[in-house]
Amino acid sequence: MFLDFTAMEPRHAYQWMVAAIVPRPIAWVSTVSPDGRTNLAPFSFFQGVTCNPPTLLFVPGNTREGRKKDTLLNIEANRDFVVSLPSFAQAEQMNATAALLPYGDSEFEAFGIASAPSERVRPPRVAGAGVAFECTLLQIVPVGEGPLAANVVFGRILCAHVREEILGADGLIDPARQDAIGRMGGEGYTRTRERFDLARPDRAPLAAPAPSSSRAPAPHPAPGSRPAGAA
Ligand SMILES: Cc1cc2nc3c(=O)[nH]c(=O)nc-3n(C[C@H](O)[C@H](O)[C@H](O)COP(=O)(O)O)c2cc1C
Repeated sequence: MFLDFTAMEPRHAYQWMVAAIVPRPIAWVSTVSPDGRTNLAPFSFFQGVTCNPPTLLFVPGNTREGRKKDTLLNIEANRDFVVSLPSFAQAEQMNATAALLPYGDSEFEAFGIASAPSERVRPPRVAGAGVAFECTLLQIVPVGEGPLAANVVFGRILCAHVREEILGADGLIDPARQDAIGRMGGEGYTRTRERFDLARPDRAPLAAPAPSSSRAPAPHPAPGSRPAGAA
């Protein structure tokens, strides 16, 4: 089968892309409007970009009518946003916040989602999320024009909140405890329960880990404190 994306309607290109590019992590993005109303919405066109400076991106596309989404309008106005990462337990709440509410209506209030104040930015974070990154706008890059075109939002990560419950004995995030979810095509999702390790060919083999009982917890590990090959 051959697919010519240069001759395809955008909505069909979308269907093929989201079915093929899987799984996608989910950024649950909170923002505030110019008059201080909170907004919360999920975005699975989402990735880390670099750690120097710590940067992530997510992509609010235009609506089918070609309008900007509330999240983008708020970031254009106020620059700051928070990316919370939903766990499996929060999947239904996260999905509810994809509803198109009138501009200014808060998904936190509409769906009874608890918020917690942020440290360095105005938008609150999702209180129950295992991880929440406080970000400030670096750059918005428009891609395309009109319906389903997009604006790539690059955000500088200022700080993060990590719930103690998702940390492992080594003081780093334990994926089993984080229980993150990923977006597949259509209405599909995946969990992160099946994992495997591969030693990197360009790095020394990992030393045998010490028994977990003798490993002292490291509550705030410095960047690079993971063993070589684990990144
Ligand atoms: C899991 C999930 C992932 C989504 N990913 C995106 C995305 O990457 N880009 C996008 O524009 N919309 C995405 N949506 C749809 C938006 O969440 C939806 O349009 C939302 O109403 C936007 O909210 P806002 O207008 O308050 O910004 C996604 C929805 C779900 C449920």
